[in-house]
Amino acid sequence: MKKVIKKPSTTLFPIPAVMVSCKGPSGKANIVTIAWTGVMNSDPPLLYIGLRPEGRHSYGIIKESMEYVINIPGARQAKLVDYCGMVSGKDVDKFEAAGLTPVPASQVQAPLIAECPVNIECRVTQVLPLGSHDVFIGEVLAVHYNEDVLDEKGRPDLDKIQPYGFCANEYRLMGDKVGFFGYSKKKD
Ligand SMILES: Cc1cc2nc3c(=O)[nH]c(=O)nc-3n(C[C@H](O)[C@H](O)[C@H](O)COP(=O)(O)O)c2cc1C
Repeated sequence: MKKVIKKPSTTLFPIPAVMVSCKGPSGKANIVTIAWTGVMNSDPPLLYIGLRPEGRHSYGIIKESMEYVINIPGARQAKLVDYCGMVSGKDVDKFEAAGLTPVPASQVQAPLIAECPVNIECRVTQVLPLGSHDVFIGEVLAVHYNEDVLDEKGRPDLDKIQPYGFCANEYRLMGDKVGFFGYSKKKD
């Protein structure tokens, strides 16, 4: 097959689109949609978010509080995730406007978003200015699941969570299971 070469860009998919909640010194909570996020280390557990300093109300909040919560949405929250990436907390109370419910976290001041099935509390350990974005590396302090997305063994039930990915500017559901960790070495 002939390859078509394109100019360099951040063409990686699927990637998550998460709602990051934060809380400023005034006590007002905000939500920012983030696709530049991922895992950096296992032990200690480190995740990151990439935030543009300009035009992001959340940037100042997170720089000051050095905390955030990554809220993983399910497909039913997709439109709200997009909305929280279209308006600024400078102008709008996104919790109120989107009808999302803040719930106190266990380790950080930033609230969890009740409607998101998974919430990950993080404390920032490093800020890396990389160019267009600053990367906030966060140590995971606590992970929460909504009870109704866990199966009888306490494992996340992906059919209930309905996680979806951000792919080339579209939000796409994960399809059917194609394998599992280590299945290539399992004997049939
Ligand atoms: C799907 C999606 C992904 C986004 N990913 C990022 C991101 O990774 N980093 C970032 O700085 N902005 C990202 N944005 C843009 C911000 O979410 C957007 O500018 C938001 O309005 C900023 O809100 P705030 O001013 O309340 O912080 C994304 C927006 C969308 C819709």
